[in-house]
Amino acid sequence: MAFLDQAQEILSQGFDTARGAVSGVAVEQLGFVRGFVRLCDDGWGQGWHERNGGNLTYRMRDEDVAAARPFFNPEPGPWAPMGVQAADLGRAFFLTTGSGRYMRNVAGDPAHNIGIVEINPEGDAWRIVWGLTDGGKPTSEFPSHFMCHAVRMRATDGASRVLYHAHPNNVIAMTFVLPLESRTFTRALWKAMTECVVVFPAGVGVVPWMVPGGADIARETAAMMETFDAVIWAQHGLFAAGPDFDTTFGLMHTVEKAADIYVRARAINGGSDEFLNTITDEGLRAIGREFGIKVNEAMLGFPVALEND
Ligand code: 13P
Ligand code: ZN
Repeated sequence: MAFLDQAQEILSQGFDTARGAVSGVAVEQLGFVRGFVRLCDDGWGQGWHERNGGNLTYRMRDEDVAAARPFFNPEPGPWAPMGVQAADLGRAFFLTTGSGRYMRNVAGDPAHNIGIVEINPEGDAWRIVWGLTDGGKPTSEFPSHFMCHAVRMRATDGASRVLYHAHPNNVIAMTFVLPLESRTFTRALWKAMTECVVVFPAGVGVVPWMVPGGADIARETAAMMETFDAVIWAQHGLFAAGPDFDTTFGLMHTVEKAADIYVRARAINGGSDEFLNTITDEGLRAIGREFGIKVNEAMLGFPVALEND
């Protein structure tokens, strides 16, 4: 071997060794990964993630990709078609939880339980470039996350980056007793706790029971996300979208807390939703004026045109 070739080989071996020594550590130290991992842990702490229940994705910024790229696998995985397409997410990178992996285990071993996927230029397939070790795959709800990311990105001028799916008890319980309409759920939740209308002024969407994990539920949920940043799946859970981990977790937390209060109030009211004291529609409008937020009028008054119902 010529001297230069030999030098080159030693050098590249050195890089590989250095890379190997820090990989599996360095990506975990990046700010967006730490925020992601913390949310998984917080959701587990809330009791929203039995077994492998729930999932999380983050649409990475260019600087996130640049910081993580030195630790990407030397060979990316094969392209996997998603069954849905969003051309404006072509070449995007997402951090995602793994299918069948447990939120409970994310903090202890991020590289095994979460991973980074790259989207192909056409926006209809992913491939793994980091993490999800030992044969892991992105969440089975990746098509729903992906389509909702596309819709929320457009609806928020690019601000929306986080999609979070959880199985919170009280939101799910409500889907057994209320008509599965966005307006009914929105009004019940807004009136359960004063500041809900500030946290989700558009209201919540409701998708009737559907088979999880495929393109059909992805399209239904994404259609709702045109209007709402929180969408309930009947007998299943909740999807929440937001610009960062705090806001998105806060949205999930607020909707579930309001649902908890609603369920308790009904229980101590003999099961009835005819409450002695409630927040009036005028009260909700007044909160909107005071806080300078645009409350979705379609949810107030009577009769009004419904959005996406
Ligand atoms: P995954 O383990 O594939 O993320 O599925 C969990 C879930 O909640 C499906 O809706
Ligand atoms: Zn689920």
